[in-house]
Order: sequence, then C-alpha cells, then structure tokens
Amino acid sequence: MAGLRKLVTAFAGVPGIIGLHGGLPPASSFPIKGVTLTLEDGRKLEIDDPVKAPAQQYCLNTSGYAPLHQWAKKHTWQMHAPPGDHDLIITPGNNQTIEVIMRLLMDPGEAMLCEEYTYPHIAESMVQPQGYLAVPLAMDEHGILPCYFRTTLQGLRDGGKSLPKLLYTIPVGQNPTGAVTPLDRKEEIYGICRQYNILILEDDPYYYLQFSTAHGGEPKGLTDLGSSYLSMDTDGRVIRLDSFSKVLAPGLRIGWVTAAPKLVERIIYHMQGIQLGANSFTQVVVSEILNAWGPAGFERHICSMQQEYAQRAAVIQAAAEQHLAGLAEWTQPAAGMFLWLKLLVVSDADEILDKLKDAGVVVVPGRFSHCCGPKHVEQSPYVRASFASATHEELCQGMERLGATLSAAAAGPQQAAAQKSSAAAARAARLPCHEDSASDRDGHAGQRNGHFSAAAKGATAPLQKVQNGHPTGGVEGQDCAAGSIPEGLEPSASAARGIAGAHEALQGLRVSSEAARAPERLELMPDSTARVELASGSPEVTADALASQPAKTLVP
Ligand SMILES: Cc1ncc(COP(=O)(O)O)c(C=O)c1O
Repeated sequence: MAGLRKLVTAFAGVPGIIGLHGGLPPASSFPIKGVTLTLEDGRKLEIDDPVKAPAQQYCLNTSGYAPLHQWAKKHTWQMHAPPGDHDLIITPGNNQTIEVIMRLLMDPGEAMLCEEYTYPHIAESMVQPQGYLAVPLAMDEHGILPCYFRTTLQGLRDGGKSLPKLLYTIPVGQNPTGAVTPLDRKEEIYGICRQYNILILEDDPYYYLQFSTAHGGEPKGLTDLGSSYLSMDTDGRVIRLDSFSKVLAPGLRIGWVTAAPKLVERIIYHMQGIQLGANSFTQVVVSEILNAWGPAGFERHICSMQQEYAQRAAVIQAAAEQHLAGLAEWTQPAAGMFLWLKLLVVSDADEILDKLKDAGVVVVPGRFSHCCGPKHVEQSPYVRASFASATHEELCQGMERLGATLSAAAAGPQQAAAQKSSAAAARAARLPCHEDSASDRDGHAGQRNGHFSAAAKGATAPLQKVQNGHPTGGVEGQDCAAGSIPEGLEPSASAARGIAGAHEALQGLRVSSEAARAPERLELMPDSTARVELASGSPEVTADALASQPAKTLVP
C-alpha cells in the first residue's frame, strides 16, 4: 500500500499526466449540486463550486482536506509550538484514532498505562476486546500522581516485567474525574516517560473547554489554556489527539492527530486501510466554517463555549453544595463536562442505582470508568454526573434527587422505603432550585476528593504489602520516592494490584464469562490463532518503535 501511495502521489498535479489509476466516481455523477449552511449568527455558507466536488469525493489527500489540514497545522503550532519533529493529519475523531494507535503500537497481551479511572470506551470497547491489558495509575484531582507512576514502572522493571510502551492520558477535564493536570505535574510525568521510554497518548478533547471557577470570571479564550504534553515534546514521544467534537459538533466526526512523522505515516496507511480517511463532506463543512469565522471568530466561539460550560459547572456546583453536603465529596470542575462525586454514605455506587432510577436521575457509576473494566471492580463509591446537556433546572433537580436518595440510604431501609413512595411525586414536582441559585459560588473551590480509588476484585493488600505481582502505587517494602507521597494518600487496591492484577482479571474474564458473554461480544475477542509479534523489538521512542520495518509482522 505504501508503494501504491507513493506511485500515485508522485504523479499528482504533474502537468500532462492522464490519471487512469484511481477508482474514483466522476464528479458529474455526484447527487449534491450545492448546499447552503446557515450559521448560528445567521450567516449563509455555500458549499458549491469549487468545493462541492471534493466534499463528495474520497479524500485524496491522505493528510486530510488541504485547507482544513493547513488550518489545523497552523493552529496547533500556534497553540503548542511542538519543539520536536512532528507532523499532523486530520482524523475521524479521537475515539477511532485511539484504537488505531493501540493497534499500531501494541500486541494482544500487552499493557497500556492508564489513569485508574478513564474514558469508559477504553476498557470496554478497546482494551478488553483486543486482548490488551490496562495498568491503572493512581490519581487525584490533578490527574496521575507522578510518585506512584514512577514506582509502578520501577516495580515492573525490578520484577523483570516488560514495560508498557504507551501511557494513555486525558490531561484536561479528564473523563470521568474532571481533573486538570497542572504544568509542573505534566513536566514530571514527561520526565518519567523519558526515563522509562514510554510514549504518551495525549487525548485532549476538553482542552478548549477550560473555564474560570470564579463567578463572572472572564473566559480563558485561546491564550490561557496551559501547556500540553505536545508543547514539551522534544523527543517525538507524544501523540496528541485534538477533536472538533466538543468545540463544534460530535456528529461531524472530525479531529486531528499530531505526532512524530514516522508514526503519522503509519496512521495514514492504517486509516486508509480501514476507512479511506476522514469524511470528506464534513471536512469541507468544518473548513468552510473556520474560514468564515477567521481566527478571531474561532476564538469568539471558543469563549462562548467556555462561558456556557462555566455556567453549567457553576449551577451543578451550587446544587451539589445545597443537596449533597455531608453525603458526597467533589472538586469543583474547571474544565470539561463532568462532576466526579465520591459518595460518602455507601461504599459502592451500585447500591443506590435502583433507587436513583426510582427517583428519576441517572449518573454513571464509577466502575464503568475503571480502566480494567467494570467487571474487575469490587466496589467504587464514585459516580460521574455530566453537566453538558441537561438544562440548568434539570441539573439542580438531578442533584436534589441524588441528595434525597443518599440521605435515605444513610438513614437506613425504613427511610429508603419512604423515599421510594414519594419519588414519583418528586419527579413531577417543579424544582425549588433555579438557574440563579448558583449565586453563592464566587471562587468556591468545592470539597476535595483527595485521592480517587476503587477496590479491585480480590484485592485486599495495602500499598506496601502487595502479595501478588507488582504494585502500581509503590514497590513492596519500599516508600514511594521517600517523602513525596502526600500523607493519607493510600493508593487504590486496584492500582496497588497493578499489572499482575490486570492480567488475572483479564484471564478471569476470558475463562469465566465466555458462556455468559453476549454473542455480539464474542466476535470481538482476539483471534488466538493469529500470532503477532513486534518486529522491531522493544521500542525506544516513536522513531525506534517503528524503525525501518513495519511495527508488526505476522508470524506464520
Ligand atoms: C476522553 C475522550 N476521548 C475521546 C472521546 C471521543 O472523541 P471523538 O468524538 O473525537 O471521537 C471522548 C468523548 O466523550 C472522550 O471523553
């Protein structure tokens, strides 16, 4: 495929060349003769000549529709000024790009380092079906705890285990915790990745959705969003994913990836193989919108998104203060779309799920976001509440219902029954809490979670007493980088069980749940007859990981 691509591109645009090579429908056969888009501000955009043909054709430029690619490259270099050698291509969004990168860099049975709680699709749709493993990294409200990260890696190395190649991280408005990793922590994590030769998959769809937590605070715009991992990447070890999903519209399915040129080339080949590039039509639409807005218009749009999310975050924060005091802990969100709540009156969010249903409110139990998958979590006291799409009233009402359910659970079974009988009435009732009830929110930092943790199935050992395999949160009998773990921060049991725990969990899943598994999931299981090996051996940084040969070769 690489040869064919080179052959075709060698002749592209050469005067006098008659192209008999492509299987492209003639532009005259396309059904759309023109489209008029009406923007929010009333402006009309015509998708007509000359862009209507490329909008309906395969995207022939493998980096993406050229005007959009140019925009993304200029914008990314302005925002992040990557110091190393990097290239960029347009993608069909971050979700699919994560899967492609995992396929390119990992073999079944290999492990990826993840924030303990992470984007739910990672475990359920990517890691488990492909036969990968996840190594949970202990985190707090600022993201991964560098101290535990280092000792996890050192523990694996000391135990003679091969180190994962990839760290998957969501550094801003983390899904599900809302954590924003500050610059000094990013620098420390980048340094650890250098030391242990690990690539960083920086999934940053919430980067632009950062806002001030102070009431009436100015939007951050594009100038105050903080430094990314890409901006410190002298080595070419960062693979940064940006997406239009949260700043324009997710249905467009367009994003972009910035990485070392060799890896970008591999991603292009792979994406060509699976879907022939990102959707041409929506690339043209996005490009036309950005062009009509210009840089100032784009920044204005980002500011309005930041204001919208700031207001929503303030409303849910105020409602949580009103209804959840003493029942839950949380950190006031400063980015993204999630409020991550630690429930104080139950040890596992599942205990109240039915009651929440009765009360008429839905939140996501923490175990669904655990990087090892929900089946491997014995208990998780967390829930994720999104403030992205409910109305302000509904946000208030949702917190009120959650609070009532938790109060009933705290009071015991009798109270819970009483709550159930009044739930229907409460569902229909209009809320006392209105949009302006977020008045007392100036600079309120919310309640602090401290350290997020779940109990993994079968995990009983505290950090320094891990029996089974290597702890991710520390090395047996050894302090975590003496003095650097904040007091009272015990690692989660699942993080403490580390890679060995993840291994067992995955094996357990394969053996025990095969029969119970829904038929449609069975076909997602890795094919054990196809053995895949890394041809280039253990990777150094990206360039070495991909070396001069393919990253993977099928061994007969
Ligand atoms: C962390 C994270 N990554 C990726 C995605 C999906 O991004 P995209 O729409 O660009 O595929 C989401 C969507 O919620 C997300 O939360």
